[in-house]
Amino acid sequence: MNNKVAFIGAGNMNRAIIIGLIKNGIAPADIIVSNPSPGKREALANEYGIKQTESNIEAASYADYIVLGVKPHLIASVCEEFADTIDVSKKCFISVAAGTTMAQIQSALGATQADNGFAVIRSMPNTPSQLGMGVSGAYASPQVSAEQKAFADQLMKASGIVKWLSSEAEIDHIIAVSGSGPAYFFLFMEAMAAEAERLGFDAQEARELVQQTALGAAHMVAENDISIGQLRENVTSKGGTTQAALNTFNQGGLSDLVSDAMQAAISRAKEMAKGE
Ligand SMILES: NC(=O)c1ccc[n+]([C@@H]2O[C@H](COP(=O)([O-])OP(=O)(O)OC[C@H]3O[C@@H](n4cnc5c(N)ncnc54)[C@H](OP(=O)(O)O)[C@@H]3O)[C@@H](O)[C@H]2O)c1
Repeated sequence: MNNKVAFIGAGNMNRAIIIGLIKNGIAPADIIVSNPSPGKREALANEYGIKQTESNIEAASYADYIVLGVKPHLIASVCEEFADTIDVSKKCFISVAAGTTMAQIQSALGATQADNGFAVIRSMPNTPSQLGMGVSGAYASPQVSAEQKAFADQLMKASGIVKWLSSEAEIDHIIAVSGSGPAYFFLFMEAMAAEAERLGFDAQEARELVQQTALGAAHMVAENDISIGQLRENVTSKGGTTQAALNTFNQGGLSDLVSDAMQAAISRAKEMAKGE
């Protein structure tokens, strides 16, 4: 293993992982990115000194680890191209595509049955990976060696924390919690900022107030060992203003709504895997 990494696609997610790897000291010469149009791959090469090419085959031939960072509907055609041109049994593939299953990837790589498949890892990162604050859920096929798993772990940790999953079905659960999760918080912050504006703060002030409150709350969770529920209770005086606000959330069924929303994300992930 020479631990060279090829990134197929120079879009948002691969860019985030590449930047994380460079910040963590992986040699730029060990990273290559391929993308059909030149703009994003050349920008990455110029900014970070990595190699770039328009050819997926050239990139994949260069590396042992191949990060598939194209849109889900392109994963199969990219893998089929590899199956026809390179020895895929010598590589470890890491797919970050939502909704493309292990079986679909294995089949596109040329596996005829589950037990003769290739080393493939399905990883589900989220957008804060761009800041090194991401969460990745990862599921490995049985063909992934301990060494490959350790390297993939290091690769994903460059952009945040990694949770290894024992079944592929759990990828859908990761999607519902951390994959889609940032948008849940954005929606909540958006609603708070809108009300802050209605109360008379200008847009900039409203954003700052909500942003700092969210950051402060997240840090309190991160830096305390007590439960999130206990933190909430600690800031909720009986009969006070916070309790009045929380009572309104509870009367509106916030917990059930959050549960329904996360179940909807899981259902949608299952539909997407079937190509719906
Ligand atoms: N963004 C996220 O938050 C996020 C989170 C979890 C998972 N993901 C997954 O990450 C994958 C990429 O998402 P993204 O947001 O990074 O999308 P993106 O920004 O659109 O990036 C996709 C890149 O793939 C390139 N591309 C298109 N066809 C290609 C081909 N045949 N070979 C090589 N590269 C090709 C595109 O190039 P052109 O622009 O030149 O067409 C584009 O640069 C998706 O499968 C998505 O499900 C994304």
